[in-house]
Amino acid sequence: MPERSPAGKLRLGVLASGRGSNLQAIIDAIEQGTLQAQVVVVISNKKDAPALERARRHGLTDVFLDPKPHAGQPDSRAAYDHAVLDVLRKHDAELVLLAGYMKIVTAVLIDAYRNRIMNIHPALLPSFPGLESQKQALDWGVKVAGCTVHFVTEGVDEGPIIIQAAVPVIEGDTTESLSARILEKEHSIYPMAVQWYAEGRLEVQGRRVSIRGTQESLGKGLINPWSG
Ligand code: GAR
Repeated sequence: MPERSPAGKLRLGVLASGRGSNLQAIIDAIEQGTLQAQVVVVISNKKDAPALERARRHGLTDVFLDPKPHAGQPDSRAAYDHAVLDVLRKHDAELVLLAGYMKIVTAVLIDAYRNRIMNIHPALLPSFPGLESQKQALDWGVKVAGCTVHFVTEGVDEGPIIIQAAVPVIEGDTTESLSARILEKEHSIYPMAVQWYAEGRLEVQGRRVSIRGTQESLGKGLINPWSG
């Protein structure tokens, strides 16, 4: 894990394609002082993404990067990620957050930001990767669902897990009601994972992520994603 200068606030680049409620949770945590970081740029592949509007509302830099000009190229995804990388570097982003980013990230970004890209996924990975995870969970009949923050690697939704939170599946749940219950947990664990990174507490060894100081925190009842 790269050493961080204790003086500067962690510089976040956020990639988002839609509603942006996780971006909002990050912004709120920063504004409330529970997350020592700053959002230096919000990038979207969708021109009308509400996430961009949220960024503007908070005076943050927002960038729409159109995938269309790259569409005809042999490796259009990699070409697009070069453009994303340029913007992230221009703004000196140290950590990249995927927040409802509905585009597959290529080796171009992953190599440049190895163990410095996080994603939030609305399932207890490795169960239900990919799309419509909450529906997949309901269809499977699980009794416990949840969400996962993980580092991003080449395999979709496969990277080392940083934190997970669980929610019960309740009789009569619909995709909407379960998604809402999971989303509430997403908003609490994503800022928490980013703050751990900002504090230099995350250590990745193979698939496992250790969180330094967790034992002491648990002893004091400070970290309990199950009830948080
Ligand atoms: C969230 O539920 C997030 O976990 C999910 O998209 C939603 C985005 O909501 N991400 C994925 O499914 C990624 N595989 P938001 O735009 O309000 O943050």
